[in-house]
Amino acid sequence: MNRVTVFRPALMLSIVAILWQSVPLPTIAQRKKTRKDIPAPQTTRKHNPNLPNVVILATGGTIAGAGTSSVGTAYTAGQLPIESLLQAVPEATKVANITGEQVAQVGSQAMNDEVWLKLAKRINELAKKSDVDGFVITHGTDTQEETALFLNLTVKTDKPVVMVGAMRSATAISADGPKNLYDAIVTAASPSSKGRGVVVCMNDNLFSARDVVKVNTTNVDAFHAPNSGPIGFVLDGKVAWYSLSLRKHTTQTEFDISNVDKLPKVDILYGYSNVDPNLVDALVNDGTKGIVIAGVGNGNLYPAVEERVKAAVKKGVVVVRSSRVMSGRTTMDAETDDKVLGTIASDEFNPQKARVLLQLALLKTTDQDTIQQMFLRY
Ligand code: SIN
Repeated sequence: MNRVTVFRPALMLSIVAILWQSVPLPTIAQRKKTRKDIPAPQTTRKHNPNLPNVVILATGGTIAGAGTSSVGTAYTAGQLPIESLLQAVPEATKVANITGEQVAQVGSQAMNDEVWLKLAKRINELAKKSDVDGFVITHGTDTQEETALFLNLTVKTDKPVVMVGAMRSATAISADGPKNLYDAIVTAASPSSKGRGVVVCMNDNLFSARDVVKVNTTNVDAFHAPNSGPIGFVLDGKVAWYSLSLRKHTTQTEFDISNVDKLPKVDILYGYSNVDPNLVDALVNDGTKGIVIAGVGNGNLYPAVEERVKAAVKKGVVVVRSSRVMSGRTTMDAETDDKVLGTIASDEFNPQKARVLLQLALLKTTDQDTIQQMFLRY
């Protein structure tokens, strides 16, 4: 093989990437328009009026990652644009008309409130359009469960919103991204996916955003719902649903982020033997509005930490007890008495998910009982 043959595919990919990224994305001012004027996502494909219309909102991650070796685990997340990802799944064009927007291009370790808000607002805007039937969000897997829960609590639509990622980069041998992306598009295009809240599609499985957790650092079977299992599957290009979460989501929640530009500061404190209680004070002095304790067992606190937490609550900081244990619930008034301590039990939310809900709760109230009810309702 000569040099030209080797480099031509890479050159073509770069040209497609440059062309795609040079298409100007609409500004926020342009988006403040009537429903009819909402800017449509970009497409380069021919429209088939008999197929549903799926919008891909891309944020980066390993699914868009590229490495120098196809067999190693080293790569850089968030390199390839949507158009390159779709080239690996030509079958998807038989399932839906696909348009796309690059909302961010980051590894999800860099995900932040700003992108969450941008994503949720863009979904809420596009969901009003009658020619949009469903959404796929491509995302890094590291913090996928947090973004999924944020969207599950803030998007105001019954239309399918399906999050997808990959554990192997797009340039790896046996990359899982193309199959996951195809399954996600199939799910977003299916009318049976309506009203199920935000769903995460990984490795043939469909999980409720509320329940899904990343459980492995490198394996393709990295997502589980430890307390409830998957709610469906995608096999042979068809979606099969098996259960439905009864907890409130999307259109049923009280969270309206349409005028929110910033979320309250909430931090997580890990529990372990001999933990230094000064960590609680450090967070309080840094102006945190809420603390989630990744407690031991059923959300239990080291005695010296308990004392500092009591003092922090008296100063107006809202404290949620969660657990560093992978499965089970953190229950109210068990070994730790929340009434005495002034704390809130996280129910099934792990610390990183409890943080998301507490940030949203603090937009509305600091009342302990009201926030406790939210943790039991969502
Ligand atoms: C990331 O979360 O962006 C990197 C890891 C991954 O996507 O699997």
